[in-house]
Amino acid sequence: MNHMSVTIGTPLQSSAFKVLLLGSGELGKEVVISLQRLGVEVHAADRYDHAPAMQVAHYQHTLNMADPEELKQLIAKIQPNLIVPEIEAIATEVLVEIEASQTTTIIPSAKAVNLTMNREGIRRLAAEELGLPTSAYRFANSLESFRAACDDIGYPNFVKPVMSSSGKGQSRVKSFAEVDAAWEYAQTGGRVNQGTVIVESQIDFDFEITLLTVRAKNAETGEIETQYCDPIGHCQDSGDYVESWQPQAMTAVALEEAKRISHKVTAALGGCGIFGVELFVKGDKVWFSEVSPRPHDTGLVTLASQYQSEFELHARAILGLPVNTTRHSVAASAVIYAGVDDTNLSFSGLNLALTNPNTDLRLFGKPEGFKRRRMGVATARAETTDQARELAKHAADQVIVNQN
Ligand SMILES: Nc1ncnc2c1ncn2[C@@H]1O[C@H](COP(=O)(O)OP(=O)(O)O)[C@@H](O)[C@H]1O
Ligand SMILES: [Mg+2]
Repeated sequence: MNHMSVTIGTPLQSSAFKVLLLGSGELGKEVVISLQRLGVEVHAADRYDHAPAMQVAHYQHTLNMADPEELKQLIAKIQPNLIVPEIEAIATEVLVEIEASQTTTIIPSAKAVNLTMNREGIRRLAAEELGLPTSAYRFANSLESFRAACDDIGYPNFVKPVMSSSGKGQSRVKSFAEVDAAWEYAQTGGRVNQGTVIVESQIDFDFEITLLTVRAKNAETGEIETQYCDPIGHCQDSGDYVESWQPQAMTAVALEEAKRISHKVTAALGGCGIFGVELFVKGDKVWFSEVSPRPHDTGLVTLASQYQSEFELHARAILGLPVNTTRHSVAASAVIYAGVDDTNLSFSGLNLALTNPNTDLRLFGKPEGFKRRRMGVATARAETTDQARELAKHAADQVIVNQN
């Protein structure tokens, strides 16, 4: 071993190796569990108490992470070795400052977090700097420029606030008659009322995939290498994933192109960790759509399909440890929604969901449910992705959400 490798101390003692998770959702919860298994001291932060990842961390911190002062104070108090952003609504300028001071590593890099929190940043990097194939696009920040952008791009097109995720404020605009309503909707659905939207031409794809791409250090050389999980297919409903499966069959040419695009964009973002690269595929042709510099919701399927789930891969990669992206099974995942707006929910029918020995469940423990809030996920293994999808869907359907 001829390079500097990580040393993990004892949690809750002065030697502790500390990770601060910014955002404590269900994906963060699995990352925390993976870090806990490696003896890391974990601090989980979010804007509300008892968020999923907080429930399995050593410490919980409730604050407004979009407030630069609050965020700075928390970081100064904890002095973490690593900061792991799990959501996009963070005062990212603070992270840029912290990274420059070289006391704490931002995962995967402040640049990555900064560029991907805004659709304009990542789209211009991918399309204009790196020359990757994407949908045609325009940005607009007034109703007038938006109307022109829509006419320019043509119909149907996709409209998204540049600061938004999970389909919030997004619409598919089929004709000029729908343009003004799409503008209104985008203005209410963005994360911050920043006003700018992207208008994208519709890509007529055969299917879409997430290519989980890991940048991790080679155990011997310490050089960062890029590895890929098998492609994950998924279907989306109103901008939110409802089912995913692995592997998604595709041509060898398309897979090579998907890896080329993913390599290029993740290398430009830098750092160590997992990235969820979203791509559209038609035959041999591949378009870049967007990228998360962290585990991806569609990657929940890897809990059932891989030796190291995307969460374990992330935990190992960010600690500078080697990873193994091998898949051992064909699997699928299906989302469980609350179906109601209420707190203190309970879940029954679990015995039926788990009757088939190739199924599994995660219930996230969220303190409050909304109709379309993801409260859990079912996974299943089978011979084929079609069978796995059917089984995962069936398992998810057995789970009954009850109000108390
Ligand atoms: N230009 C496009 N052409 C075709 N489908 C699109 C386009 N943009 C988005 N979509 C569909 O909408 C989904 C959500 O869009 P995305 O940009 O990934 O938003 P989010 O950040 O909310 O996940 C995509 O997974 C895809 O199914
Ligand atoms: Mg997406």
